Amino acid sequence: MNVETRILSELSEDGYSSGEAISEKLNITRSAVWKHIVKLRDRGYSIDASPRHGYRLAGRPDKLLPAELAPLIQTSILGRHIVHLEETPSTADVARELVGEDAPEGTVVFAESQTEGRGRLGRSWHTPAGKTIAMSVILYPSLSPTRTPLLSLATALAVKRAVEGTTSARVKLKWPNDIYLSGRKLAGVLVEMAAEIDRVKWVIDSIGINVNNRIVGTDLEGRATSLADELGKEISRRELAVALLTHLEKIYKEVQSPAGLISIQRSFMKHDLLQGRQIEVKTPDGVISGTADGIDSEGRLLVRDIAGKVQSLFSGEATITATQIK
Ligand code: BTN
Repeated sequence: MNVETRILSELSEDGYSSGEAISEKLNITRSAVWKHIVKLRDRGYSIDASPRHGYRLAGRPDKLLPAELAPLIQTSILGRHIVHLEETPSTADVARELVGEDAPEGTVVFAESQTEGRGRLGRSWHTPAGKTIAMSVILYPSLSPTRTPLLSLATALAVKRAVEGTTSARVKLKWPNDIYLSGRKLAGVLVEMAAEIDRVKWVIDSIGINVNNRIVGTDLEGRATSLADELGKEISRRELAVALLTHLEKIYKEVQSPAGLISIQRSFMKHDLLQGRQIEVKTPDGVISGTADGIDSEGRLLVRDIAGKVQSLFSGEATITATQIK
C-alpha cells in the first residue's frame, strides 16, 4: 500500500482523525501528511481539515482508483497491481507497453476515459469519462494457442456473472465476445495475444462495459445499451469492477484446467444468444450460413448447414438472419 492509500485507510467519514496520530502511525511528519492530503484532494477526494480536530473524509471520487478498489479486492492474482489513468488512447495499448516492462501477471489497467478505444475487427469503442468500465488485464496463461477463443468466452461469462451479481440485469452471451442486454450490446471483450506455435506468451484481456453512460439519444441507440439506461439508475462502477476481477480470476483458473473447459462450454451454452438461430458468420475464409448449434470445448462456434453438416469456426462475426421455426 502506498502512503496515500494508507492515509485514506486512517480517515473516516464519521469523525476526525488527528494529523498527529496519522503521522505517528505512518512514521512521517505532519507536513508530509498535509502534502498527501493535498494530493488526495487533487485526485477527487473531499477531505475536511480542522486545525483542532484533524482530517475527515467528506466524499470519495467515483473513480476506479487503486486506493478505492484495493480494500475490496480479495483475489490472489488479478488486480494485485492496478494502474489507473484519467485518460489514455487505449488501456490495451498501455497494458501492451507494460508487458514489455515485464509487468506481473494480473496487472490491471483502468481508464476513466479513452480517446482511441477499440473493439474487435477494427471497430471503435466509446469511453466517455467516468461512466464506463474500460479495463485491460495482463495474463501469462498456461494455454495452447488453440484454446485462446475459450478465454474470450470465459471473460464474457465473467462479465455476465459480475453484472448479474451486482445488479438485477440478466444478460445473454453472443459468440465470441459480446454481452447483450434486452437485445442490445452492453459490453464487449477484446483478447489480444502473442504466441509461439504451441505456447501463449502473453494475453491482454480487455473488457468494455457501458455502465452509467447513456446510449439513448446517441447514434448507437437500438444497437447498444448501458446498465443505467436499462435499470434507470446509476450503478457503482467500483462494486462492478471488483466483482469482475473476482469472477475473472476464478474462470481464468478454470480455462487452464481440463475439467474447466467443459464447465465453461456448458455455462456459455446456457446463455447463448445464437443457439438455434439462423445465422451468417463472416469468417476470414468467407461467409458461412446455417443454424447455430452451440460451441465446442475449445470455444469454436458450431454451425449446422441445411444438409446437416457441422462446421466449427475459430473466429468470425455472427449475425442473426432469422429465428428458426422448429
Ligand atoms: C468489442 O466489443 O469489439 C470489444 C470492445 C473492447 C473495449 C475495451 S475498453 C478497454 C479496452 N481498451 C480498448 O481500446 N478496448 C478495450
